[in-house]
Amino acid sequence: MNCNIVILAAGKGSRMYSDTPKVLHRLAGKPMLGHVVDTALALSPQQVVVVYGHGGDRVREAMSVYDGLHWAEQAEQLGTGHAVQQALPELKPADVTLVLYGDVPLIRKETLDDLLAQAARGSLAVLSVVPENPAGYGRIVKNEAGEVTAIVEEKDASEEQKQINEVNTGVMAIPGSRLTDWLGCLSNDNAQGEYYLTDLVAMASDDGTGVKSVVCGDEQEVAGVNNKVQLAALERHYQRCLARDLLETGATLADPERIDVRGRLQVGRDVFIDVGCVFEGEVTLEDGVQVGPYCHIRQSTLGSGTVVEAFSSIDRTAAAGQVTIGPYARLREGTVLAEGSKVGNFVETKKSTLGKGSKANHLSYIGDAEVGEEVNIGAGTITCNYDGVNKAKTVIGDNAFIGSNSSLVAPVTIGTGATVGAGSTISRDAPDDQLTVARGKQVTVSNWKRPEKK
Ligand code: UD1
Ligand code: CA
Repeated sequence: MNCNIVILAAGKGSRMYSDTPKVLHRLAGKPMLGHVVDTALALSPQQVVVVYGHGGDRVREAMSVYDGLHWAEQAEQLGTGHAVQQALPELKPADVTLVLYGDVPLIRKETLDDLLAQAARGSLAVLSVVPENPAGYGRIVKNEAGEVTAIVEEKDASEEQKQINEVNTGVMAIPGSRLTDWLGCLSNDNAQGEYYLTDLVAMASDDGTGVKSVVCGDEQEVAGVNNKVQLAALERHYQRCLARDLLETGATLADPERIDVRGRLQVGRDVFIDVGCVFEGEVTLEDGVQVGPYCHIRQSTLGSGTVVEAFSSIDRTAAAGQVTIGPYARLREGTVLAEGSKVGNFVETKKSTLGKGSKANHLSYIGDAEVGEEVNIGAGTITCNYDGVNKAKTVIGDNAFIGSNSSLVAPVTIGTGATVGAGSTISRDAPDDQLTVARGKQVTVSNWKRPEKK
């Protein structure tokens, strides 16, 4: 079966009190609309059409990472039926058209598979839910035989209909052959003066097409976002689900309520994550990795047995096994740490490689550097990689020892086995296996006396 997907995203979202279009507000680091587009694409549809209204340019720009999305403008929001109508010119012939919403971000592919399976048999399929409080939703009206005959909006419902607790989520799979005809028959003769998509249900019931409702068991999955309270609630729900998945794959979380994953976190066996950590983008923690409290790890891979101590910030870094990081380390893009290396407190690294067993344990800046194996970088060492215009490279050979508080003025090479005396400013290459010192000579003035008070 082939399907078209129409995503409604024209609503203004005035209750967000924001200049950002509603569907671009982020859930787990990704725009709500991005979540829906990902789910839509997972169904391998013929065509995905996003109906936009407010902030169209920004919405299109934010979605430019996706290939092949189609766009339809709905200049005036005249109702959900009118919105789908705007998408018609962009649709290719298909067996079914599935309607999704840019502000219902957590809808799952599996649920939509069920709905599409019903629609594949020729009927119109609506996704319903039995919420704790049905107020405000369209009610699913059934006949004695239990067949769906209509959806009645709350504002048009009789007192009796308002007692129905199965409600419309809005998500609907419509037989492609009837879509255009049905939409053409919509009228706005109702309490809100809108063209209701839900009126298609009575049409399908009347003309013998038949209507099936699929009940979604999870209210959050089909919840829409109209304000920041609802957005925050869905964010928490989503994070709880991710935390549960992590626990189920064997990770230990100090507190599943205090972890945030904004992207994809993959964990090996016996991984431990302390409270307050944020993971962004693709992050991999191999077997036995331990992450201390309040760490921010983005787009990085940490090899087995690596330990990250508290308050470390790690970005676009690749650490091999048994590496020690932090506390308070700042690893920036292009940091590569070999087996057994150590980066300690208040050390910043950028576009640098640390060889096997090498250490920078305290208070350093290592930028654009290639550090060999078993190197010891003393406290306060700075690679002076920037002359105000260009960046230059520092190369440090295996087994070198850099004394504390040294400045290595790049481009510069420190030889294999070289020792740099503490406090040196090294601006020329330091040879292998020798001691290089570059600092003022120490003098003692023998007859000097402290001044006395007059
Ligand atoms: C709609 C359903 C209702 C259902 C409820 C679930 C209709 C007539 N009613 O009501 O049965 O219980 O959703 O939340 O469909 N939109 C547009 N263009 C428009 C109007 C709406 O793009 O002209 C988009 C909105 O941005 C929003 C979605 O469609 O994402 C739903 O619109 P909204 O007005 O909130 O529908 P409800 O009145 O809640
Ligand atoms: Ca409305």
